[in-house]
Amino acid sequence: MGQDALMEPFSSTTGVLQCKICLLLLAGHSGSCLGLKVSVPSHTVHGIRGQALYLPVHYGFHTPASDIQIIWLFQRPQTIPKYLLGSVNKSVVPDLEYQHKFTMMPPNASLLINPLEFTDEGNYIVKVNIQGNGTLSASQNIQVTVDDPVTKPVVQSQPTSGAVEYVENMTLTCLVERGTRLLYQWLKDGRPLHTTATNSFSPQNNTLHISPVTKEDIGNYSCLVKNPVSEVESDIIIPTIYYGPYGLRVNSDKGLKVGEVFTVDSGEAVLFDCSADSYPPNTYSWIRRTDNSTYVIKYGPHLEVASEKVAQKTIDYMCCAYNNVTGRQDETHFTVIITSTGLEKLLQKGKSLSPLASITGISLFLIISMSFLFLWKKYQPYKVITQKLRGRPEEEYRKAQTFSGHEDALDDFGIYEFVAFPDASGVPRMSSRSTPVSNGLSGQELNSTIYEVIQHIPAQ
Ligand SMILES: *[C@@H]1O[C@H](CO)[C@@H](O)[C@H](O)[C@H]1NC(C)=O
Ligand SMILES: *[C@@H]1O[C@H](CO)[C@@H](O)[C@H](O)[C@H]1NC(C)=O
Ligand SMILES: *[C@@H]1O[C@H](CO)[C@@H](O)[C@H](O)[C@H]1NC(C)=O
Ligand SMILES: *[C@@H]1O[C@H](CO)[C@@H](O)[C@H](O)[C@H]1NC(C)=O
Ligand SMILES: *[C@@H]1O[C@H](CO)[C@@H](O)[C@H](O)[C@H]1NC(C)=O
Ligand SMILES: *[C@@H]1O[C@H](CO)[C@@H](O)[C@H](O)[C@H]1NC(C)=O
Ligand SMILES: *[C@@H]1O[C@H](CO)[C@@H](O)[C@H](O)[C@H]1NC(C)=O
Ligand SMILES: *[C@@H]1O[C@H](CO)[C@@H](O)[C@H](O)[C@H]1NC(C)=O
Ligand SMILES: *[C@@H]1O[C@H](CO)[C@@H](O)[C@H](O)[C@H]1NC(C)=O
Repeated sequence: MGQDALMEPFSSTTGVLQCKICLLLLAGHSGSCLGLKVSVPSHTVHGIRGQALYLPVHYGFHTPASDIQIIWLFQRPQTIPKYLLGSVNKSVVPDLEYQHKFTMMPPNASLLINPLEFTDEGNYIVKVNIQGNGTLSASQNIQVTVDDPVTKPVVQSQPTSGAVEYVENMTLTCLVERGTRLLYQWLKDGRPLHTTATNSFSPQNNTLHISPVTKEDIGNYSCLVKNPVSEVESDIIIPTIYYGPYGLRVNSDKGLKVGEVFTVDSGEAVLFDCSADSYPPNTYSWIRRTDNSTYVIKYGPHLEVASEKVAQKTIDYMCCAYNNVTGRQDETHFTVIITSTGLEKLLQKGKSLSPLASITGISLFLIISMSFLFLWKKYQPYKVITQKLRGRPEEEYRKAQTFSGHEDALDDFGIYEFVAFPDASGVPRMSSRSTPVSNGLSGQELNSTIYEVIQHIPAQ
């Protein structure tokens, strides 16, 4: 008999109980009461035109049955139901008009529609009657839709050549060759696009209008088209949007950059690089500025400055980026300061230090020097030195005596050490000072003592 798995719950006392509840509630739900249950997996079935569509139905009952009758009816909106076919036990009686289209294999109540056509769209009603001790009957509805699957959409952009930011508009159109009940959706970088101040959609959503375009509109656009039986996404289209220049900046491979000032060591060749974001790429020009005039020195994104060939110490430059499609340009000014190397550089750096920092530095320097010399003096017996000194000719010490030390302050830079050398009287004495300034040294002492002046230039 036509009893499937769903019948099992009804074959026990639970089934009886359920039936009693149903009777009590007088629940008029067509598919589930009075000992007979008819069910369908889905009340809506989407079919593809030209293909076979199977409408599955399950039913179950727990009373003794002599006859099982199954009837299929079809109803289009606002029309009366039409008889399609029916069966008693295993014999099927089709409507002769539709006998080649609808198939049923009782006791299996499922209906096969083949081939499916647009006219087959509508409501299908299945009614099951069980004849036993009385008659039980139940029915179900299945809504059937018929569609053509969507073919792959193609996106076209207008204008095809691209649009200039803030000036032009862009329209993307999604074209689909075949398909019914189409729903369009626009995706940008894979995410659904919504209406914004600049984005708008046609009523069907099949066109996207961007007015005006901006750099932010650059992305991977695709059109997703759906219908009940299919869903296809177009290839990605990246609209051409002309923009910029934005974020113009100059960088160098060497040298120190502070704001718009590049400090470059004399003798170094420095490569400057000018960059700005724009599409199409910018045309760059480098402009040298003198007091009143400016002149272009080079085109292209790079500029090499060989600092030794430049007469001035400070040069003003300008990099100009021009987008020949948007017609917009941007420029940035910068200054190159050429500094000398070595000690001058050190002094240059020293100058740039704050006065407080300089004072602290000098103080520390003095303290460390004093400590060092004190220790040195304490642990280094002067005899060693005097012996060494004795080996030298006297003229050398005379030279030392004539030391004046103020021709060039730069040459005097360093730590000074005064090493006493015994005079004619043969009384050895030693005196040390950490700086060339010989404060507290009386003329008498100087008179009777020969000094060797040792200059230490601190390591840089
Ligand atoms: C259906 O089958 C039952 C039992 O199998 C039988 O008693 C009944 O007569 C049949 N009905 C028809 C219309 O053939
Ligand atoms: C009904 O027949 C279809 C095939 O035609 C089958 O897939 C389905 O399982 C059957 N249902 C029952 C309840 O036997
Ligand atoms: C048929 O149903 C009646 C009441 O509806 C009941 O009295 C009778 O016992 C039933 N007969 C069988 C064979 O189930
Ligand atoms: C862009 O669209 C706006 C309206 O949305 C219109 O006023 C304007 O003229 C359009 N611009 C171009 C270049 O077509
Ligand atoms: C856009 O698509 C290209 C490949 O077509 C991919 O390389 C790129 O990462 C995508 N960009 C985004 C933002 O998804
Ligand atoms: C168009 O798309 C918007 C969301 O982007 C959606 O809310 C609307 O229902 C769609 N209209 C149609 C006709 O598909
Ligand atoms: C720069 O121009 C001003 C007037 O615009 C003029 O007085 C001055 O002499 C010029 N300087 C040089 C170096 O040409
Ligand atoms: C714009 O500049 C590019 C180089 O950046 C050049 O190839 C192109 O021909 C120029 N177009 C026009 C219209 O000048
Ligand atoms: C210092 O030298 C001068 C001459 O050079 C001399 O007149 C004087 O007496 C000397 N003083 C001492 C303390 O030797």
